[in-house]
Amino acid sequence: MSGRASKRLEAIGSYAFEEVDRKVEELKLRGIDPIDFGVGDPTAPTPQLIREAAVRGVEMRKSSGYPSYIGTLEFRTAVSEWVGRRFSVGIDPAGEVSSTIGSKEAVFNFHEGVVDPGDIVLCPSPGYPPYTRGAMFAEGVPFQVPLRPEKGFLMDFGEIPEDVARRAKVLWLNYPNSPTGAVADESFYREAVEFARRYDIIIASDEAYSEIYFGEPPISILNVSKQGVLVFNSLSKRSAMTCYRIGWVMGDPELVRLFRKTKTNIDSGTATFIQDAAVAALGDETHVQGFREEYRQKRDILCAALAKAGLEDCTPASTLYVWQRVPEGMSCVEFATALLEDSVAVVTTPGSWISESTAECRNPGEGYVRFALVPTLDDTRRAAQRIAELRF
Ligand SMILES: Cc1ncc(COP(=O)(O)O)c(C=O)c1O
Repeated sequence: MSGRASKRLEAIGSYAFEEVDRKVEELKLRGIDPIDFGVGDPTAPTPQLIREAAVRGVEMRKSSGYPSYIGTLEFRTAVSEWVGRRFSVGIDPAGEVSSTIGSKEAVFNFHEGVVDPGDIVLCPSPGYPPYTRGAMFAEGVPFQVPLRPEKGFLMDFGEIPEDVARRAKVLWLNYPNSPTGAVADESFYREAVEFARRYDIIIASDEAYSEIYFGEPPISILNVSKQGVLVFNSLSKRSAMTCYRIGWVMGDPELVRLFRKTKTNIDSGTATFIQDAAVAALGDETHVQGFREEYRQKRDILCAALAKAGLEDCTPASTLYVWQRVPEGMSCVEFATALLEDSVAVVTTPGSWISESTAECRNPGEGYVRFALVPTLDDTRRAAQRIAELRF
């Protein structure tokens, strides 16, 4: 049988990080031990109190049974209480929140429930691939809105042509922003809400990095509006739980209803003992402070070394990424390749691999590489020593 891909699958290139993984393997085969800042997967162990809660959950829930699609009432209540403490926003566990199997699945699948063929989905560029991929699989049309350094990497709604805005169904926002580290303030969110209301567009706000910040805690778009807004959050980064696959959506009850209906038709609930672990995670802030402090140390060590090597200061305000401007006259792939030299062996992701050029705009990731601050503190120090020796 010939394994013929669908047109949709064929239209999509390989996932950028497959290429990063390939580079790491190549170095390893040559006997070199690379320090991998390529993929944003926290390497720190999941905190003990969370692991223990998962184990207790397995024992407590002896019979298996399919998990609830929308999340246990305990989980939804824990989310609601956490959001109340963290953002001072009221979320009704009954109708304004649903669990997810992590944000990736939720982001991708949401399009199936709200996008009709030909609808435009406004996506930040650079941006998390499932925004555009989900739109394409739902036969929508992604429209990439560039995030520009001169605008503080905040989306400029003035760059969206009138006819595009009129055909748009969903607007993706992602602050704290991956990969630029930018944080949105209230006036930006007000502008976004006003723009979306004018054109009757759903705002999907991916706030997966809301807890990884280095200054004042960032606000949520829910501090400005719940109406017409669905927020996606996850414990992957906050609590180093990427493997557990647990997150949630919350916001406008009508959008939560659509999300739940879509989810029930596509995937399943997160294992109930994982939801138990998530309840424990949401009840504790100490481990989150610890992670923030560690990311801050790694950020400072790496950014100091990059400055020493002669690069522009790109110290981020949030997230676990450094979106580093590459030296004048070099492409991002050339710079990332220079860091892969045997004497440095530092793996990064070239910016152009995680964003795309469009008819309207050259690739906004060109000129940048992304460092994910996931190696250990010691490995970050070793990488920084090697980088500080370079001269650009
Ligand atoms: C911007 C952004 N959103 C969402 C996610 C997804 O997180 P998860 O699916 O693990 O919840 C990631 C993961 O890297 C991300 O970078």
